[in-house]
Amino acid sequence: MIAKVLGFTLLGLKGTPINVEVDVNNGLPAFDVVGLADTAVKESKERVRSALKNSGFSMPTRKITANLAPADVKKEGSTLDLALAIGVMKASGQLVAETDGIIFLGELSLDGSLRRINGVLPTLISALGEGFKKFIIPKDNQAEASYVHGIEVIPAKSLKEVVDHLSGLTCIQPIAWHDYVCVDTNVYDSDLAFVKGQAVAKRALEVAVSGGHNLLFVGAPGTGKTMLAKCIPTIMPDMTFSEALETTKIHSVAGMLKDSDGIVFARPFRSPHHTATTVAMTGGGASLRPGEISLAHNGVLFLDEMPEYKRSTLEALRQPLEDGDITVSRATGNVDYPANFMLCGSMNPCPCGNYGSEDKVCTCSPAQIVRYKAKISGPLLDRIDIQVEVDSVKYAELTDERVSESSATVKARVNRTRLIQKERFKNDGILTNSDMGERHIKKYCKLDKQCEDLLKNAYENLHLSPRARSRIIKVARTIADMNLYDQIRPEHILEAISYRHSDGML
Ligand SMILES: Nc1ncnc2c1ncn2[C@@H]1O[C@H](COP(=O)(O)OP(=O)(O)OP(=O)(O)O)[C@@H](O)[C@H]1O
Ligand SMILES: [Mg+2]
Ligand SMILES: [Zn+2]
Repeated sequence: MIAKVLGFTLLGLKGTPINVEVDVNNGLPAFDVVGLADTAVKESKERVRSALKNSGFSMPTRKITANLAPADVKKEGSTLDLALAIGVMKASGQLVAETDGIIFLGELSLDGSLRRINGVLPTLISALGEGFKKFIIPKDNQAEASYVHGIEVIPAKSLKEVVDHLSGLTCIQPIAWHDYVCVDTNVYDSDLAFVKGQAVAKRALEVAVSGGHNLLFVGAPGTGKTMLAKCIPTIMPDMTFSEALETTKIHSVAGMLKDSDGIVFARPFRSPHHTATTVAMTGGGASLRPGEISLAHNGVLFLDEMPEYKRSTLEALRQPLEDGDITVSRATGNVDYPANFMLCGSMNPCPCGNYGSEDKVCTCSPAQIVRYKAKISGPLLDRIDIQVEVDSVKYAELTDERVSESSATVKARVNRTRLIQKERFKNDGILTNSDMGERHIKKYCKLDKQCEDLLKNAYENLHLSPRARSRIIKVARTIADMNLYDQIRPEHILEAISYRHSDGML
């Protein structure tokens, strides 16, 4: 008898339904799985065998062949365990129940319990897109599943529970759908109120976060660069539902949703160490995991002490910084992951850190300084819209008892500026000013003669690239939005240009 059961396999954030066809006949006892399965799928035979026995069922001592179709799609991981086990039970007559249209997901333990798997959220969304509406998943994955409306998801703790439910012995209630309300429950140690002085750097930080622009802090050691960057999560705007879903999908595939509320509410703030490899940064490797830049999707990638990172690793950021996604390649094909993040970097101006300081003396040779700066290439710097010098605060400022503006106040303003952008781009498929392409710049950033003159001047005198010009206009758009102006004014262009001044210094 042949049984057909549905499973699902992911490639990146999208996937394909898999027909698990199981045939049990009277040959020599064996269990074969065919159809481009990787090692983990092959190992699932052993898990299915033990799980069946330890759940009170039996493994037929006959010839079992399982075919995973379509045969040209590579099947990975342990997600198909449950579908295989149900297939074997149906084919051997141990389960008589309707399973048409139900997608089975889950890894089996040897004792028959269902273990959580990675990528449930993207699987459900992807399968719903293909018209599938019924699923059985491990109970441990139920939190993320509750955010997909319009489907029926049965959460089960074990193979036994699934079988009892299917055969009508018990009835497991489907997961109730959750509505999305953005609640960032993180408690942050940092707060802008603790950062004394540094008005220019704080303003630059707010502009960058408001429009999603890339940011670089340059300054002597101990001036507060890392401290400022750590305040970014405290002022990042709330995520919209679609942003949260998109970010959660990536974290789900990467297996990072454990112990969470099922959805990522807070924008990610990723700070990989400078020893991180290029693969860790961009994604890929044997398991095709999303890299740091994709984990930072809709949030921030913070590279502290930027020149310490391997040059090739930094260079790999250039394409995703421009396109907002990354294509990870391997022998059997390519996988696209979104990677639309705000880059925040910090660096010293020279190896000793004092170059350009008002009161300290730089002891580096010109050659040393050139070598140090060359670690960050021109094309990468060109993509950093806002570059600010951070100098030491004066002692009086540092000990000033007056309370500075808190992160909560700034965050409220950032949220307001993001709303203006969301409204503006509602038919454009983008969310922030930094996402604008040339088409959007033409439409939403009309410049008067005075603004054009300022730009021309800067372009010629600061030797800017055409890309830098576009980026200045985008930053000016954000500054205009922060000040509630429809039209970009000369002072907005001037402020945006001022963030490019350190082009000369770097
Ligand atoms: N503006 C400031 N207000 C209050 N404290 C500050 C300020 N700047 C620096 N500090 C104090 O100095 C410490 C070191 O700052 P931080 O680590 O941010 O420096 P940095 O610029 O990143 O230095 P480095 O280049 O060595 O990494 C902070 O933890 C904080 O205690
Ligand atoms: Mg630092
Ligand atoms: Zn120096």
